[in-house]
Amino acid sequence: MKALVLAGGHGTRLRPLTFTGNKHMLPIANQPILHYALKSLAAAGIRDVGIILGPIQEGIGETIGDGSAFGLRVEYIRQGEPKGLAHAVLCAREFLGNEPFLMHLGDNLLQSGVQQFLHRFESRRPDAVVGATPVAHPEHYGVVELDGERILSIEEKPLLPKSHLALIGVYLFTDAIHDVIEHLAPSRRGELEITEAIWQLCRRGKEVSVLEVRGWWKDTGHPDDLLEANELVLGSLPTEEFRLQGSIEPGAIVEGHVAVGPGSVIERGARILGPTVLGAGVRVSGDSVVGPNTAIGNRVSLHRARVRRSIIMDGARIEGVALANSLIGRNVEIRSARPQAGEAIVTLGDSARISL
Ligand code: TTP
Repeated sequence: MKALVLAGGHGTRLRPLTFTGNKHMLPIANQPILHYALKSLAAAGIRDVGIILGPIQEGIGETIGDGSAFGLRVEYIRQGEPKGLAHAVLCAREFLGNEPFLMHLGDNLLQSGVQQFLHRFESRRPDAVVGATPVAHPEHYGVVELDGERILSIEEKPLLPKSHLALIGVYLFTDAIHDVIEHLAPSRRGELEITEAIWQLCRRGKEVSVLEVRGWWKDTGHPDDLLEANELVLGSLPTEEFRLQGSIEPGAIVEGHVAVGPGSVIERGARILGPTVLGAGVRVSGDSVVGPNTAIGNRVSLHRARVRRSIIMDGARIEGVALANSLIGRNVEIRSARPQAGEAIVTLGDSARISL
């Protein structure tokens, strides 16, 4: 079975921040968001993947290439303007042919992977399998109302949700979806909505099977989602992913599950508390404390700093401040000559500079 991974859309926007490059390349536990979908498809035995690209593509082709590093054969499909998830399927019509296919939103992470969609499809042979999970705020999602296994309604971001079951960003479709999408009208926001296409499948009497997914699911549309995804991924990484490379000087403390990349130096007096990952060429000095639930990118320098439950991207320099629940873009500089009282929560796009 082929798969479609959507990495188009509003390219750099991670509401409300702006980053250079495509937002699907932002790191979670030091891996680009998009890599998680690709790994999950490869683990389910998928080989042929079409990646949907929008106007901002920087970083995607360079790191993923032909997909061989993931055990995949990747083709790139241009969508141009982001005219909706169903529009992306329309753009991939030739790549998909008439075979069933999996569709994975590139900014979604699903702990239990995509295999369960294939099992459901093989055991029941429906016209579509859609994943769903209960959420606290269904009004932000596509919401499905069920009577037993029967779908009563599917609505996109309803003001008054009829249930707490949100559609997640993984779907399996047969070719029945193509005819529906060809006849779909744009929504009020001017997009071809996949939620509406799924509802139309139901209305045509096609069988849409709702799969309640196990484990956690994360849609990484907002900065807070990235921090939560980072914590969830760090908490579920297998122990062998935490490798200590680089140099841990005598008198430095490393506790719990910690990864330290090549060329990194943890100086005497510094403490790293797991689960935490540090990339390559990082320097932690001046009695800094890092972690838990923190991902530090490559070439980051932390001096007299305290950082917990945060993502600090490549090339950032943090000195003299305590940060918690913070998302710090690439090459950001934060310095304070005087000690700060308490922890700061800081969310900064790429290349910002702060002197306190
Ligand atoms: P989002 O822009 O989050 O799509 P959404 O309809 O869920 O948006 P909102 O939260 O505003 O309701 O994009 C979801 C994923 O799909 C993301 O990985 C980008 C990708 N995408 C495309 O590839 N093409 C598109 O036209 C759109 C809208 C999204």
